Amino acid sequence: MPVITLINEGQTIEITEGTNLRKALLKKGISPYVGKDKILNCLGNGLCGTCRVEVVDGKGAPPMSPLEEAALVGLVPFYARQIPKNVRLACRIGVTKDMAIKTYPVIALDWKLTKERLALLAIWTLFGGTFLVVMIRLLIEIATGR
Ligand code: FES
Repeated sequence: MPVITLINEGQTIEITEGTNLRKALLKKGISPYVGKDKILNCLGNGLCGTCRVEVVDGKGAPPMSPLEEAALVGLVPFYARQIPKNVRLACRIGVTKDMAIKTYPVIALDWKLTKERLALLAIWTLFGGTFLVVMIRLLIEIATGR
């Protein structure tokens, strides 16, 4: 049976092979979430990127999928996170061997990618807004016959 070492908590958890890391943490009363994320999360569906853990010894973790990587960086178009290589989503890890993790890793914003995303969003909003105004005026003209 694999053993998870929780470095910050100074505890070990013995689990059955293949157990989801997020579920194992929650079952032991350890939340992988911080602050508002304790309530606002995707319940382990790999979408919100909030159940982050730092994998110190990752023999028991499967390789990261592209979807997990995208969720870690941030799927919303307003910002992007700067994620160290050893940070993973607890809900995407089925533990197969012993591993050591740190809960609540510190994550910084990726300002370069955030600025790029905001610029793209501004361009889309500008063109989308202009298109919407033109379409509304066109519909009004058609409806009123002028
Ligand atoms: S709970 Fe949302 S990504 Fe893990």
